[in-house]
Order: sequence, then C-alpha cells, then structure tokens
Amino acid sequence: MTEKSVPVSEFVARARAVLAANDRGGYTVPTHGLYPFQWNWDSAFVAMGFATFDIDRALRELERLTEGQWDDGMIPHIVFHAPSDTYFPGPDVWGTRHRIPTSGITQPPVLAIALAEIARRAGHHEQTRIAALYRAALRNHRWWAQARDPDGTGLVALLHNWESGRDNSPEWDAPFARVPETTTTEIRRRDTGHVDAAMRPRDSDYRRYIHLVDAYRNVGWNPEKMWAIAPFKVADIGVNSILLAAEESLLGLARTCGEPGDAPEIEARMMRMRAGLQRVWSVERRQFQSRDLNSGELLAVTTSAGFLPLLTDAPTPEQAQQMMRALVQIARGGAMLVPSTAPTESGFESKRYWRGPVWAVVNWLIAQGLERHGDASGADAILDGTQAAIERAGLAEYFDPLSGEGLGGQGFSWTAAIYLLMVERQRARREAA
Ligand code: GLC
Repeated sequence: MTEKSVPVSEFVARARAVLAANDRGGYTVPTHGLYPFQWNWDSAFVAMGFATFDIDRALRELERLTEGQWDDGMIPHIVFHAPSDTYFPGPDVWGTRHRIPTSGITQPPVLAIALAEIARRAGHHEQTRIAALYRAALRNHRWWAQARDPDGTGLVALLHNWESGRDNSPEWDAPFARVPETTTTEIRRRDTGHVDAAMRPRDSDYRRYIHLVDAYRNVGWNPEKMWAIAPFKVADIGVNSILLAAEESLLGLARTCGEPGDAPEIEARMMRMRAGLQRVWSVERRQFQSRDLNSGELLAVTTSAGFLPLLTDAPTPEQAQQMMRALVQIARGGAMLVPSTAPTESGFESKRYWRGPVWAVVNWLIAQGLERHGDASGADAILDGTQAAIERAGLAEYFDPLSGEGLGGQGFSWTAAIYLLMVERQRARREAA
C-alpha cells in the first residue's frame, strides 16, 4: 500500500507518536513486544531523534542507558529496567550481577556520537548532565581498549555476534562454523512468535548464539576469562569504525566539557585505531572488512558495515573513492541502498534480517560518512531513498532492498528517530539552496 499522498508533517507526527508510544519512563523500547527493554545502540539513535524536538528527553534516554553501565565501564547491549516475558534470553539466562539486570555483552558504541549531536543543540544549562555522560562514554571507551583489545593492536574484538548489532550477517558464518550448537540453556525463542520465521535467524544459528552466552556466563562475565576462552572473536568493521568516530566525538566533547587534559589519551587510541583499520583493507576486494581473530582471516563479504569507515578519517581519498564506486554499483544493480549484504553475495537473502534488508540507522551513518568525504549528493540519494521507503511502507524495523517492503517489527523507535533527523536535514538543505 502506498502512502504517497500523506504529507511529511503527518509522518513527523507519526514518528513522534511512535517514540511516545515506546517510552517506558525515560527510556524507549525498540518496539512493543519483540524488544521490550532498552537496547544500547537503539537508544543512542533514539536520543538523536528526540534531540530534534526535546533535548531534556534526549539526555534522559542516555542517562537511563548509562544506569546499566558496569563498574568496569562496559555498557550492556540490553538493560532490563522492568520485567517482561515476551523476550528470550531474559535476565535469568544472562545471570549477570549488575544492580539493574543487564545482558553481559555490549553493542556498537554510538553513545558519544549521540551525545555530541545533542550537546551541539543543547543550552548551557544542560552542561552538568552532558559532562556526566561524557565521563560515562570515556570510561566506556577505556573499557573497549582494555577488555577488547588487550594487546593494543588498534582493532577491538567482539566476542558475540549480537555485539555487532548485525546479528546474522553472513560475515559471521565462517567464525560460527567453529562454534558448537550445544547449549545448557533451554531455548525458548520468542522472536518467531512476533515475526515470520523466514525473516529471522535460523534455529541452528540461535543455538550457537546461546552456546556463547552459556560459555561466558560460566566464567562469570570476567573480561579476561571471556577473552581467553572466546569461541567467537571477530574484529567487526562496523564496530571498529563506529568506535573511532565515537572517539572523535569524545575528543570534541573533552574540549567543550572542560576536560582538555583527556585529549592526549583519546588521541593516542585514535591513532592506533586508524592504523588498525588500515590492516583490514582488502587490496583484492577494495574494501575494508571484518577479521576473524581466531583464524586470522578477513571475512570477505560486502556488507553495509564495510562502508562505515567513511565515518572516520581513516580511509585514504583513494579508498573512499573505491567505497563510493561500490555503492554506485549496488544501486545500478537495482537494489535500494544500502542493503545489509550486497545482492551479489551468495549469502544474500532479501528478507532475512541482516542478510540483505536495509536499516535506516546504518543508512544514516553511511550518509554522514559520505558527507564527510565530500559526496553530499551520494548522502542525499541514500537518505531520500530511505525517507521514501518509510513514507511508502511505514516505520518498519527494516526494508527489503529489492521490493522496498517494510519488514520485521512495526512502529520501530530507531526508524522513527532517523525519520525525524532526515526530515530536519532535508529542511536545512532546502533552506540553504
Ligand atoms: C536486533 C538487531 C539489533 C538491535 C535490536 C533491537 O537484535 O539486530 O541491532 O539493536 O534488534 O532493535
């Protein structure tokens, strides 16, 4: 069904209404039913969406997220603020020890990026809150370096695929081939009760995801022990790019939050990470790629995350050009930009979660990256396509890149947030023209 006749202002109202409906008291669930808690990177995008009309609420979202931060600086991928029985695996399966129950793994560190965006818009009276969140983000970045790059290589590792935020990307197929399907936890999938099983990860994949949870719970979620036993250890190109971009945001915040003394520490990590990213450039495929740290192999799959180094100054001008050309090629093939997995890959499936569908949040990040590297019209094309898909198919979780169909959960918070950001950007563009 097409909703073309509906004016943009009406969609803005709907997007705000989705955020209001998913508000559980200062934090926002990704969508009703399927995801009934606070998710880490969802919240960062949601906060940016709120910032287009309510700075106080935007900061509140991040404050509630950091209520889940562990003493060692880790920010969990889920904060279980209130009980719900519509999701598996819940707090009992994770068995962590935080005051508020949380999961034991993390997610892409968008926090500092969101905070910088909010700080840019906020009045001076919010400075104390911003400074507190700045310190939470700083502790988090230190955790990433210590716990997930203990050898100081400049690339941080994920120990669970859910940490990538791109749960079942074909990049993880090879590393998962070594992860057993055995679990000591009884698997009670709830996701397939909300959404068609053909769009979700397969059962065999799910058993491996839970095998990892069992393994880390058995070592008490201790970072050194987890690192030592990790059956899954991957330097995800998405998270590494986002972390470097987040460090840059943090550096800007250090100056405005009156903590310039933190700058050398942040800059040192940034320098290491730039060098780290250069080591995962595939000369053969002309792309940045994830690396399996257990086998040492680059994971040769073109995914949307492969474009995220554009968010940073790590790519050379030549590498940036190659990435832009790859995007043009995907679009010429007829797919909506940016499919989570390129349609030319054998693992591509247009409707199955991160094996093909398009996510508005990833598009937003890639557009920021294109702009940074001087391709404003490429950024416009991606965002206009995303906006049109939402206006046609609703505020869905994700979109089929071949048909444009809206899939997964509906009334999705981060899609609503990105919609608000896109409309605002479009307005600014029009005013500047
Ligand atoms: C899925 C996605 C993840 C997201 C979560 C909540 O697990 O893969 O990226 O954070 O849903 O929306």
